[in-house]
Amino acid sequence: NRPLTKRICCIGAGYVGGPTCAVIAQQNPHIEVTVVDLDEVRIAQWRSSNLPIFEPGLSAIVEVTRDGTDGRQPNLFFSTAISAAIQQADIIFIAVNTPTKRMGVGAGSASDLGYVESAARMIANAAPADKIIVEKSTVPCGTAERLRSIFASLAPARSFSILSNPEFLAEGTAIKDLLNPDRVLIGSLKDDRSMSAARELASVYSWVPHDRVVHTNLYSSELAKLAANCLLAQRISSINSLSAICEATGADISEVANAVSLDQRIGRHMLKASAGFGGSCFKKDVLSLVYIAESLHLYDVANYWRAVNSINEHQKSRFTSRVISALHGTLLRKKITIFGWAYKKNTGDTRESASISVAAQLLAEGCELAVYDPQVSTNAQQIYRDLEDIGTNIRERVRVWDNAVDACVDACAVLILTEWDHFKTDMLADTSTLPENCTAASSDSGIDMLDDGLDLPTAKSVVHDAFNKSDRVDWCAIASVVQRPRLVFDGRGVVDPVALGALGFRVESIGKAS
Ligand code: NAD
Ligand code: UGA
Repeated sequence: NRPLTKRICCIGAGYVGGPTCAVIAQQNPHIEVTVVDLDEVRIAQWRSSNLPIFEPGLSAIVEVTRDGTDGRQPNLFFSTAISAAIQQADIIFIAVNTPTKRMGVGAGSASDLGYVESAARMIANAAPADKIIVEKSTVPCGTAERLRSIFASLAPARSFSILSNPEFLAEGTAIKDLLNPDRVLIGSLKDDRSMSAARELASVYSWVPHDRVVHTNLYSSELAKLAANCLLAQRISSINSLSAICEATGADISEVANAVSLDQRIGRHMLKASAGFGGSCFKKDVLSLVYIAESLHLYDVANYWRAVNSINEHQKSRFTSRVISALHGTLLRKKITIFGWAYKKNTGDTRESASISVAAQLLAEGCELAVYDPQVSTNAQQIYRDLEDIGTNIRERVRVWDNAVDACVDACAVLILTEWDHFKTDMLADTSTLPENCTAASSDSGIDMLDDGLDLPTAKSVVHDAFNKSDRVDWCAIASVVQRPRLVFDGRGVVDPVALGALGFRVESIGKAS
């Protein structure tokens, strides 16, 4: 059955709106997809060859859908003409940001729904007839109900169908996650009109097996998204709390994680000890759940979830304290090199990156920093913006390098804070001989794309974007430029202490005793 939808408009051209719409356009050549945003610079970048976000495999899909490079009719558009796109669309996604409120009631905890509401007002003002409105942003439960009352007061003559369809992609693997999702969640009211809208939205996900499309009520869908992020964050805080015990006792966190993960009820995902989780969502979504619980006077529930973020802050401080202690309690005028500024590998996103907190704590001790990140180094201004709250003369005390070895000259310590494969000590598979080598390269990267059902061209473009063998850091050269005793603090468990030990380094790893 051919779906009814002819045009989709997505409000918000960010990390969710851009990749999601690119994949929807790729999979539905008959649907015209227009992504709109208030940010003119961002839209100009989406229209250029220099996309505003780095996401493996994304540019190849955008080229085909936006530019029609393989001879097909372009069906992906980026625009600031928001009203026009709303007017023409059958389905409107709201994929705007929902950060933690900075002021007013609930500041520091509640989600700021100002952007969602402004998008809703735009729709109410511009939509000439009934539309399907899809909440893509992560929102507190009850938000769809609020949207209904906004539409009821601003556009009483029209009746919009409001659906919740939260996004579960992770950055760095967004294309794989979108093409092969664990589930597509659609929340709706249970009346005939809403159910029909839910079926129409489900038909847009034409490439997803039917049994992975889950229908729930609106509240369940909204809460399930928050719950998923909170449970994932909780696992990381759980393993990180255990890593502190490992460091004090001689247990090894990777051995502990492996042993517990073999229990199928526990499983292996999200159990990698680290210097703390980052990203724009985990912290804010945990805070949002805490605020919901407090609003319901469920204070013990709120405290339970609050601890997930507290352990994360503790983990970042613990990592910094270990560095300071190994450097004899003082960092004054010492140079420290940070490898990795993005909050995780295969993205250029630095929001809430553990590197920012660790850098701030180190700078407070009087040191100088050199930063190298395979992706973010090309955007040094972003690093200075991330540190702008810290105070004066940041530009004199923090230098950004586009070469790992140069960044390490005379460094007293090298800190690994992002799990980029570029920092690994084992050999990467040679990606230059793809496609023959594609499976090896992809499994080596931890992204088993072909196993995940991606077609070969897409898998190739994801692997190609994620890895460039020539970018791997040269630990031999680094050994000859750092100060003795060649300290490496591995906050992500990416290097082999024995391999680096053979080059004369002393490696201190998260969750392993010194
Ligand atoms: P983002 O900040 O990258 O993008 C949001 C965009 O919305 C911005 O470009 C902003 O200019 C635009 N915007 C805000 N108000 C607007 C308006 N009224 N009209 C037009 N444009 C407007 O945010 P993101 O990372 O894409 O996240 C969006 C939502 O998706 C959030 O609720 C987030 O929690 C959720 N989410 C994010 C991810 C992720 O990996 N980043 C994954 C799943 C869910
Ligand atoms: C996370 C979820 O994984 C997505 O499902 C969700 O859609 C998204 O948040 C969102 O709502 O924004 P993301 O933050 O992009 O995705 O990336 P993750 O892979 O979850 O990693 C988050 C942070 O945790 C990173 O800093 C990562 O390095 C860290 N991490 C991850 C660990 O420290 N240990 C792990 O085992 C896994």
